[in-house]
Amino acid sequence: MTRLLDVENLTLQFKTDEGLITAIDDVSFSLDAGEVMGLVGESGSGKSVTAKSLMLLNPSNAVYGPDSKITLHLDDGPVDVMALAKAKSKDKRVIRGGAISMIFQEPMASFAPAISIGNQMVEQLLIHTDMNAKQATELSIEMLDRVGISDPSSRFKQYAFELSGGMRQRAMIAMALSTKPKLLIADEPTTALDVTIQAQVIDLMKDLVKEFGMGIVFITHDLGVIAQTADKVAVMYLSRVIERGPVRDVIRNPSHPYTKGLLAALPSLDDLDTPLQAIPGDIPSPLERPTGCVFNTRCSAKIGDICSAEIPDFININANHTAACHLYSEATS
Ligand SMILES: Nc1ncnc2c1ncn2[C@@H]1O[C@H](COP(=O)(O)OP(=O)(O)OP(=O)(O)O)[C@@H](O)[C@H]1O
Ligand code: SF4
Ligand SMILES: [Mg+2]
Repeated sequence: MTRLLDVENLTLQFKTDEGLITAIDDVSFSLDAGEVMGLVGESGSGKSVTAKSLMLLNPSNAVYGPDSKITLHLDDGPVDVMALAKAKSKDKRVIRGGAISMIFQEPMASFAPAISIGNQMVEQLLIHTDMNAKQATELSIEMLDRVGISDPSSRFKQYAFELSGGMRQRAMIAMALSTKPKLLIADEPTTALDVTIQAQVIDLMKDLVKEFGMGIVFITHDLGVIAQTADKVAVMYLSRVIERGPVRDVIRNPSHPYTKGLLAALPSLDDLDTPLQAIPGDIPSPLERPTGCVFNTRCSAKIGDICSAEIPDFININANHTAACHLYSEATS
């Protein structure tokens, strides 16, 4: 497989009136072309901020750590994304709607209110591809059709506010996919959709991965959706990745106590009598991050002072499957 993306030691803090908020702490992962990586974790764990970093879309109060490195490997050679932070907006086009497209959690954010859906789709294609207006119109209508929008030629002329939430989400997916990006970042793309449409959109994404060899970073709370969609998964908790590996391995053999907790909290259709087990306690405020392992204030497997004193390193569970937890470093030392 061809490497598409390397994220190394990504760290990001927000300057706020209350102090510095660490939203991403030393996060590393990679993605090959044609691969789908799921990014999971509870609300506030840093998934969206990580996704926006790949396109340098975080607001101006964001401060990146000096060792943060994001490399996008394109046919013409590697692109150093962090180096584009100071570039003119024209030069950022490669990561904004060109090689990378993003489907946002909130579809209204993607559409300008006073321009029709179709005109926005066409405009984007004219900027990022060498299509003429007729070709761009045809492709846009075809993409609206492929995401399951009925009567796409009429929808093409409508404005975002005229569509229902689910329809808007699908139109945004159509727009993001129409430029055939190398990397698609999908931030909770199916949360607002009913299950039938959700399955349809997931199938569409899988088809496009095959058709264009696109890489996808798929963000969700829902481990069930990840199991259906992703090849590999990274689990985030309070700004850090704590476990990563091939999706089946991680789901069948979760190793970090937090991942085990997330899986135990999922309902099982085979066994509706077993009560669900929520992870006890709340995620600490990002202003009061625990020392040592970020999960130590909620972990029922905590093994002692080392958990609150030292940040655990990633330990290999088996090939490509790693977890950052002292349980394993203790076992191997
Ligand atoms: N512009 C900002 N200024 C200050 N803090 C921010 C900003 N954007 C995000 N944060 C903080 O960064 C942390 C990570 O937020 P993020 O939106 O990435 O979470 P998430 O994992 O996507 O959660 P959710 O599942 O709810 O979407 C949170 O503590 C959030 O409050
Ligand atoms: S390092 Fe300690 S506190 Fe953290 S998950 Fe492992 S056992 Fe629990
Ligand atoms: Mg989010």
